[in-house]
Amino acid sequence: MITITEQLSERLNTALVKIGKENLPSNFKGTVSAAADTRFGDYQTNAAMILAKKFGISPRDLALEIIKEIDVSDISNDPEIAGPGFINFKIHESTILLRIREILSSDRVGVEKTLRPEKILIDFSSPNIAKPMHIGHIRSTIIGDCLQRVANFLGHDVISDNHIGDWGTPIGQVIYGWKHELNETAFNEDPIKELLRLYQLIKEQFESDPKVKNACLDETVKLQSGNNESIKLWNQFKEITLSEAQKIYDRLAIKFDLTLGESFYHDQLGPLVDELLSTGIAEISDDAVCIFSKNELEPKNDPLLVNRDSQWTPVPCMIRKKDGGFNYATTDIATIDYRINELGAERILYVVDDRQSLHFRQLFEVSRQRKINTNLEHVSFGKILGTDRKPFKTREGSVPDLSSVLDEAIQRAKSVVDEKSVNLNEEEKKEVSEKIGLGAVKYFELSQSRVSDYIFSWDKMLSLQGNTAPYMINAYVRTRSIFRKIDETADTDLENFEITDDSERAIGIKLCQYAEIIPEVMNDYRPNLLATYLYELAQSFHSFYEQCPVLSTEGKTRNTRLALCESTSRVLKHGLELLGIYPPDKM
Ligand code: ARG
Repeated sequence: MITITEQLSERLNTALVKIGKENLPSNFKGTVSAAADTRFGDYQTNAAMILAKKFGISPRDLALEIIKEIDVSDISNDPEIAGPGFINFKIHESTILLRIREILSSDRVGVEKTLRPEKILIDFSSPNIAKPMHIGHIRSTIIGDCLQRVANFLGHDVISDNHIGDWGTPIGQVIYGWKHELNETAFNEDPIKELLRLYQLIKEQFESDPKVKNACLDETVKLQSGNNESIKLWNQFKEITLSEAQKIYDRLAIKFDLTLGESFYHDQLGPLVDELLSTGIAEISDDAVCIFSKNELEPKNDPLLVNRDSQWTPVPCMIRKKDGGFNYATTDIATIDYRINELGAERILYVVDDRQSLHFRQLFEVSRQRKINTNLEHVSFGKILGTDRKPFKTREGSVPDLSSVLDEAIQRAKSVVDEKSVNLNEEEKKEVSEKIGLGAVKYFELSQSRVSDYIFSWDKMLSLQGNTAPYMINAYVRTRSIFRKIDETADTDLENFEITDDSERAIGIKLCQYAEIIPEVMNDYRPNLLATYLYELAQSFHSFYEQCPVLSTEGKTRNTRLALCESTSRVLKHGLELLGIYPPDKM
């Protein structure tokens, strides 16, 4: 069933075409959306205000013409004009009931699949070898997973690819470190920690000591030319890193279709650079191979140019270094070819932090030069900050690793559960704390606007009030507890109901809007739209539940209210699961 916004928008456009004639711009599409202020109606459009000038009349006069022409009698009451020319629609109760029935009867909870399914490749998480995942990876991992869930649910063909950094100089540094600085006891105790220590130690020496630098570069060359011992070490490091990362993915219930990693493309890099040289896209500059601006874009939109002292100066994309080594960009270009030609991707999303935005803008410009017209999008995000507004650190001043953040979240959730959930046994408390703790970390991330930085706060994350996982989970648990209290002998018929009360109506409308929100998440890759919707739904549910007794009523009233509780329960659970959160039934 198409959504109410789609239905009303369609009717609006039909009316506009009738009254518009030559005044209506041919590409104009009027939209009706959920009203922010529901005192005047449930849905609203400002089309009259946008078009009035073109029509040469006042917005109110145009609004009058629209409401005379528009035919919505099967969906809503007669539309009304408000303010300078808004048109408001109050939906029929029967329209709401129809949709509630659908939420109750289908496992798609009333949400249609997309009419334009695509093969979408999502590149996310992508940690680097020999380093544990740290809190900086949290955003990519959680946002990327949510997008994969939503895109799948909408019927897209999704391929998730964990593009791990498993090739290049850092690996040479760790191999060198392993040969010269390894502490075996430490390695046996905590391999990934020791690998990180080696990497950090050698990275410093690499910068300050040319001898170490050369030795590391030699190790990199040895690895890349297939030396047996190097390959063996590299495989060992890779296994350690991936099995560590896998533990985190398992805890977070995150799955990847592919983990190809940078090394997978290694053999293609040489031929790729030759091809780019022979087609004239790349050129040799200072013994390196670079791709320059082709001056086909406005300079301010051209990522291969930068304005220095009022001069547009080249910032080329380097694809082969002087020493013959390849760059991060070279691998990414080869990766695009593979994803399009071998995997058939029609859209590629890179869920990577905004510090890499120049890299991706250049990559997309190179692809434009190569006449690739697959949709490439950098789904970028900001930093996680501490309360001092500097990048988040542990009390000891180091970058916190993701698995200890998860441990701490669960432990903190446990204290809340121990205090509040007196009716649960130890086993249940443990399970509930885990769900709340992991849910809290995910929800805190997904309820933020992706593009901005945010401040990491345990108190906010685990608060039972406000837009938080515990609040959302509590709302869901409340819906479940109603059904646990239900008297089996009373006659419950969720098919037979009617809406009579304003609070019933308010939550009913909100429930209809689930189907409208889900596709919007994919428009600009914003999971926070879903989180905000679920929060508003939980709030409507709380006020509905306060104003409308459920179990003490009878007959149709009781059926209606139970149907609304059950629909809320279904939508909350479904929505939370799209965010990757699995709410318990009790808490
Ligand atoms: N491994 C990279 C890092 O940690 C992220 C890779 C992102 N994906 C890509 N195709 N470049 O910074």
